[in-house]
Amino acid sequence: MTSGAGEVLSSFYDRRLVIAPIGLDHFADVRNLHASALREGTSGVLSETELQALLTLIASPRYSDLLLQEEIYGGWIDDELVGTASWHTNSDDGRAARIGWVFVRHPGFGIGRRLVTEVEARAQHSGFNQLAVSVTANAIPFFERLGYQVASRGVRNLGPDCALPVAFMRKFLLRPVRTRLS
Ligand SMILES: CC(C)(COP(=O)(O)OP(=O)(O)OC[C@H]1O[C@@H](n2cnc3c(N)ncnc32)[C@H](O)[C@@H]1OP(=O)(O)O)[C@@H](O)C(=O)NCCC(=O)NCCS
Repeated sequence: MTSGAGEVLSSFYDRRLVIAPIGLDHFADVRNLHASALREGTSGVLSETELQALLTLIASPRYSDLLLQEEIYGGWIDDELVGTASWHTNSDDGRAARIGWVFVRHPGFGIGRRLVTEVEARAQHSGFNQLAVSVTANAIPFFERLGYQVASRGVRNLGPDCALPVAFMRKFLLRPVRTRLS
């Protein structure tokens, strides 16, 4: 793709993207998006065993419980769910809001940035100025670009059979995140 074509597509997605809260009715679309984004995005950073454990978790009823703990926002282009991001008031140390994982169906066109900006603004609106996120290695450059820094590396346990290597990242919000809250 030429950079000119990329710019046209980015502008298209930016104009057409509608961000709205995700509810139970959307969970099937969310599972589908999360599974396909992980299959495409994590090759080389997760082992086949780790990826399969994650995909099994996403297909399980427990995943609904995990989703329900988060405030999730979806990015829609017409009827297609093209991305999600989420946040949660509790992080491990209780001081920072936890940003959940971000999943995008068409990477590279600014959708992830729009979604993270949205949930950052929500978290900041609720009084947090520190954000924490634990990310798989493929997503580190994306979060660095958005102002996060790696604090440490370790393992995140998502269930008895699902432990993933992650980087723990932090961001301090010095200025208000500029987005429109609906
Ligand atoms: C990681 C992910 C959410 C990024 O979303 P995206 O829509 O592609 O990201 P954006 O287009 O908004 O990129 C925002 C910025 O980050 C940069 N960026 C994104 N991915 C990058 C990468 N892999 N390497 C370097 N820079 C990257 C972009 O170049 C852009 O920079 P800019 O400021 O110059 O414009 C997406 O690739 C994805 O869904 N991956 C698979 C699922 C996954 O692993 N999620 C993360 C689990 S923690």
